[in-house]
Amino acid sequence: MSNDLKASVLAAELDERPRIGILTSGGDCPGLNAVIRGVTKSAYWLGYQVVGFRNGFEGLIDPIQCQHLTPEVTSGILVQGGTILGSTNKGRFGARVGKDGRAELADGILDQVRETFEAFRLEGLIVVGGDGSLSTALQFHEAGLPVVGVPKTIDNDLSCTAYTFGFNSAVLCCADALDRLHTTAASHGRVMVLEVMGRHTGWIALHGGIAGGGDVILIPEVAWTYENIVAKIDERTRMGKNFTLVVVAEGAALPSGTVVGQDSENMQTKLGGIGQVVTEELENRIDQDVRCVVLGHLQRGGGPTTFDRVLSSQYGAHAVRLIVEKKFGQMVCYDPPDVLDASIEAAVGDLRTVDPLGSAVKTARAMGICFGDTPGYVNPFN
Ligand code: F6P
Repeated sequence: MSNDLKASVLAAELDERPRIGILTSGGDCPGLNAVIRGVTKSAYWLGYQVVGFRNGFEGLIDPIQCQHLTPEVTSGILVQGGTILGSTNKGRFGARVGKDGRAELADGILDQVRETFEAFRLEGLIVVGGDGSLSTALQFHEAGLPVVGVPKTIDNDLSCTAYTFGFNSAVLCCADALDRLHTTAASHGRVMVLEVMGRHTGWIALHGGIAGGGDVILIPEVAWTYENIVAKIDERTRMGKNFTLVVVAEGAALPSGTVVGQDSENMQTKLGGIGQVVTEELENRIDQDVRCVVLGHLQRGGGPTTFDRVLSSQYGAHAVRLIVEKKFGQMVCYDPPDVLDASIEAAVGDLRTVDPLGSAVKTARAMGICFGDTPGYVNPFN
């Protein structure tokens, strides 16, 4: 269906109120539907209508895929996982990285997007996405299109915000897995290795590991050795603990410097597999059973925690406000206790990594959690 035709079909449902577009892009996470609902409800009360574009940026271009979002359509989705609009991290807007490290757009695609904005008479478009999707949104903004961003990712790796929505839900999933592994590890006197997501940062491993009582946490931000992990396991044995819980972030480099995953041409590396590598190496080094669990996409599925429901609702309402106030090129952000906004450019410019000297790492070390970088306890406050 052509842009004009689709716009005219939709126009039958739409009235003269100004229009806001929204799309969800990249890997899904809990809270996407809560953002969609927050946008739709707050737009409604401000006298705006909302058009949802389906399957990420793909929905903006031929064949245009969209739907009219009303308070009725979004009723009851606050607690639902996934996204009613669909999402993709592939296709014509996939996170293809160019020479300067920015997302690369195919020739002519911005013109098609501009036509859609005009055909739908959009006052602004809300892009809900992580660093890849928001760097595409930044290119829209630089091309003069009215866009604002909402920071989404379980990885929590965007700058300018204390939390992305979805992160808290992923941490709960990780902690829940550790709670379950705890009892089976203790029953069998085993070392359990839990591999969690997070791409090149260790936020999920760190927060999930603390929340779930992990004994060893391996993250990309701290270099570690097998000897130090074995020393921790031995120390626990001496303390009468016959089991150990090891949490490893998928992006943590091995002592050799290798990051485990698959590289595909010009695309983001697909990470995963370090849990099994660590498990096999520990099996060679200790006289104890070692088992590996890869938490994988369970961390992205299911409904949002209450924290993420509140954060997502706040993000949705604030994004609408940005469009009403014509603050384009901005991304909503959380600067506790306030939801504010910052430029998308600043948010995607730098990966927000875990500070190895930050309070969460220090807290973990103070409780004796091992990061694999020292053979025993070191007072973090000295
Ligand atoms: O960015 C979110 C995330 O879940 C990462 O933690 C993980 O590395 C990646 O996406 C997995 O992507 P995919 O769903 O394409 O396997």
